[in-house]
Amino acid sequence: AQAVIVAIDGPSGTGKSSTSKAVAAKLGLSYLDTGAQYRAITWWMVSNDIDITDPSAIAAVAGKPEIVSGTDPAEPTITVDGTDVAGPIRTQEVTSKVSAVSAVPEVRARITELQRALAASAPAGIVVEGRDIGTTVLPDADLKIFLTASPEARAARRSGELKGADINATREALVKRDAADSSRKTSPLAKADDAVEVDTSDLTLQQVIECVVTLVEEKR
Ligand code: C5P
Repeated sequence: AQAVIVAIDGPSGTGKSSTSKAVAAKLGLSYLDTGAQYRAITWWMVSNDIDITDPSAIAAVAGKPEIVSGTDPAEPTITVDGTDVAGPIRTQEVTSKVSAVSAVPEVRARITELQRALAASAPAGIVVEGRDIGTTVLPDADLKIFLTASPEARAARRSGELKGADINATREALVKRDAADSSRKTSPLAKADDAVEVDTSDLTLQQVIECVVTLVEEKR
């Protein structure tokens, strides 16, 4: 069988990561979390005291960190210059700064190149999740999914993940990050014309997974 390339895009809190990982595991495909790559480069910028309010300062060093993603859906990994950063990239500081860093074209060019190389070398195919995978990174993907959910459903899911977090504050932070990601000039968060839109507000994770698995199987 030929390698199958699946692009899953959408805003945060729509269940992208859980869905993508499960679909990849079920179908024996590789898995890539592109948000983790943008978080990793942001973590490096913060750790090296780069002024993230200055896009030219970010652009000047965008090529420096070496970011390596492990693509096994059972155990996805991410390192920067050999250091495991899976934990540190999920802090509130990185989350609040990642949109500014990921908006810089030099950062996107660098990360996009890594993503295309990983997709091209996945033996059975790959599920790639992000914001611009169907529109920019892999426009020839065999299947494109765009996941959506109401702001309420998304904030509730995120608050569940971040135990004890205030739901209103969580919703505000989410909406703010999506607005930044959707309005940036270079490859904003957007649904590709040929993407299948799935509203997950009233679906369980299991239902979303089944829906996507069925769509992939139809393409194979
Ligand atoms: O998916 P996650 O919430 O971890 O993504 C973190 C951030 O990385 C997003 O808010 C966005 O700024 C950036 N991102 C992006 N393009 C992608 C994936 C993530 O700009 N393909």
